[in-house]
Amino acid sequence: MTPRGKSVAALSRAGAKEANAFQKCIGPGCGREHDLNERVYVCAECGASLEISVPKPALKDAAGLRDLWESRRRSLDSLDRSGVWRFRELLPFAGAAPVVTLLEGNTPLYDAPRSAAYSKLDSLRLKHQGCNPTGSFKDTGMTAAVTQAVVLRARTVVCASTGNTAASLAAYAARAGLRSAILLPHGQISSSKLAQSVDYGAAVREIDGNFDDCMKLIRELGGDPSIYVANSINPFRIEGQKTVAFELIEQCAWRVPDHVVVPGGNLGNSSALGKGFSELLQLGLIRRLPRLSVIQAEGAAPLAHLFASLAAGGRAMKENLPEEIMPVANPKTLATAIKIGSPVSWKKALRSILESGGSVITVSEQEIADAKAVIGRDGIGCEPASATTVAGIRRLAVAGLIRPHDDVVAVLTGHILKDPDYVSHYHRGTLASEAGGPPISGAFRNQPQRVAATKEAVLRSLEGLE
Ligand code: F0G
Repeated sequence: MTPRGKSVAALSRAGAKEANAFQKCIGPGCGREHDLNERVYVCAECGASLEISVPKPALKDAAGLRDLWESRRRSLDSLDRSGVWRFRELLPFAGAAPVVTLLEGNTPLYDAPRSAAYSKLDSLRLKHQGCNPTGSFKDTGMTAAVTQAVVLRARTVVCASTGNTAASLAAYAARAGLRSAILLPHGQISSSKLAQSVDYGAAVREIDGNFDDCMKLIRELGGDPSIYVANSINPFRIEGQKTVAFELIEQCAWRVPDHVVVPGGNLGNSSALGKGFSELLQLGLIRRLPRLSVIQAEGAAPLAHLFASLAAGGRAMKENLPEEIMPVANPKTLATAIKIGSPVSWKKALRSILESGGSVITVSEQEIADAKAVIGRDGIGCEPASATTVAGIRRLAVAGLIRPHDDVVAVLTGHILKDPDYVSHYHRGTLASEAGGPPISGAFRNQPQRVAATKEAVLRSLEGLE
């Protein structure tokens, strides 16, 4: 353990402001500080989650940051070319840190007119985090967590996962030459994600249980000194993922969207975006927060249930947030990435959602499937969990919580090739609802047709195409 402040003076070389960065308990009435390099994931005092406090550059320097970050887009230096490390002034690492990067981030922000029309909006933009090196948003956090694993000289990095965290950890661990071990719920993750983890050399352990059981095991394993946990309970993951907020606002030419909408599973992503936006606000780089809303699948929606009860309880409840969330004992959804009943980061996420004036709602399996196909018609491929966003935006627009002319960004979290079986089943009309609801129809179905190997047959089959 390094005493706060001391390590940094020794390590610091460039502009990184890690000097007095530390880990802080988010527990109400606790707030205990832990050294940045203390290997803890929850507060040693009260067991609540930790977050990293990074000293902000002086306000007068903040304006210069915008130019500095933008200028790095033209650099050939690998740190500058990473969409995470480009923002290193706000990351808790020394200038000499042994950065493990796959040049993550720098993902596109697309206009999506068909998805906008479907959502009853004038326009809609999609930030495609599926364009990261391993095909999901997890890479922006994993570069930071695995770098910290190297700083701490960890040997084995581990995570529980519904597939994407695992693929990302396996890849970054391979880059760093570390061993990785991943716990997956047996039979409940897509074969594409599993294939990635195996190929990157991770020790894959398929557990007889669901994601929440795997996560429970990880919490127990985290106490073993040979293990370094890379789930989003690790606050370094959140630090990396918060840079997506910086990149997004930069892509919006520093004009803050009215709404940013994300899927919710373990709730690390929403926590991280919330932290990123509020750091920009504190620095004076933006003047207001976008409303951050989280969409969950109906069968795996513990935060949406809690949010609904807070809304029903009025202001007093929002000011005295509950200490517990009621887990969903047997979460169900075909969007397996977010099939989670007991989310680790719910408190951080809820704080950000309430601070920004956002909402948490659910969408059905049919809505997710249709929204995914509509996003596809914009030429943009995402995995089912990502499509909760467009389905949710449509619902929020119908409810009047998003107005037609509002400036809205949906964050797509994973690539279409993460779950090709789902896509084929939808278009063939064979996607069954495991959530116990009615079977899912392919309202935007586009089924392949078998055609004879002649010019006439092909032309005939194309007649009447719109
Ligand atoms: N979208 C995708 C594609 C995901 O893989 C996940 C989470 C989420 C959304 C939800 O994000 O957990 O930060 O709220 N996947 C984790 C995993 C749980 O293990 O890959 P969250």
